[in-house]
Amino acid sequence: MIRPRVAILISGRGTNMVALLEAAAHPEFPAEIALVVSNRADAAGLDRARDMHVPVAVVPSRARPRELFETDLAAVLAAHQIALLALAGFMRVLTEGFVQQWEGRMINIHPSLLPSFPGLDTHARALAAGVRLHGCTVHMVSAGVDEGPIIAQAAVPVLTHDTPESLAARVLEQEHRLYPAALAWLAAGRVRVTGGRAHVAAAEARGRLVNPLPAGAAVSTHVLRD
Ligand code: GAR
Repeated sequence: MIRPRVAILISGRGTNMVALLEAAAHPEFPAEIALVVSNRADAAGLDRARDMHVPVAVVPSRARPRELFETDLAAVLAAHQIALLALAGFMRVLTEGFVQQWEGRMINIHPSLLPSFPGLDTHARALAAGVRLHGCTVHMVSAGVDEGPIIAQAAVPVLTHDTPESLAARVLEQEHRLYPAALAWLAAGRVRVTGGRAHVAAAEARGRLVNPLPAGAAVSTHVLRD
């Protein structure tokens, strides 16, 4: 099995990165995490990556034109022969040109059920809106912030006494389950985008879309059969 080489892009603590690295340590995982890149030298996730013996690179983005940052990033990715990008708490907006170059090969995880609550402070905003379900989304990256065809989602209930922190923790637990599954589908060539929608050809994609899955519920999916 030839496993595509993946770079994970981070800016912070890197818990999703760790979830991806742990999943990819399994010999049957269809991708190899070959590099972790941070745009901040002080990202806590860098130490976690080093502890897990993954090559790391820092490409500083602060106080630099976007294009310069992306030229350096592209050079690092090329040097490591990276085929796929997984953004995991990467808090820098990428230019349309960069996004186009990686079209279909770059995914992101976002802590809300998109298209609700793109951007920051998603948990506080979900509480303020009074939604009863919240969650996370893995999507292909397209030019808009937190936009692009949805690959997978996981939902959690919003409880009466939730704070942004308690809700964030419940969502994060699902992020750590969802992201490795979505990356595996992409790496195995099971994600296809047509008409702006992502179709996942994996039977197990069904049970992953909503969590907890109500017993016996029929979940609407776009699962293709081989
Ligand atoms: C995660 O909750 C991720 O979904 C979010 O940042 C956090 C990073 O945590 N990403 C975004 O908000 C992207 N718009 P982590 O560094 O522990 O993975």
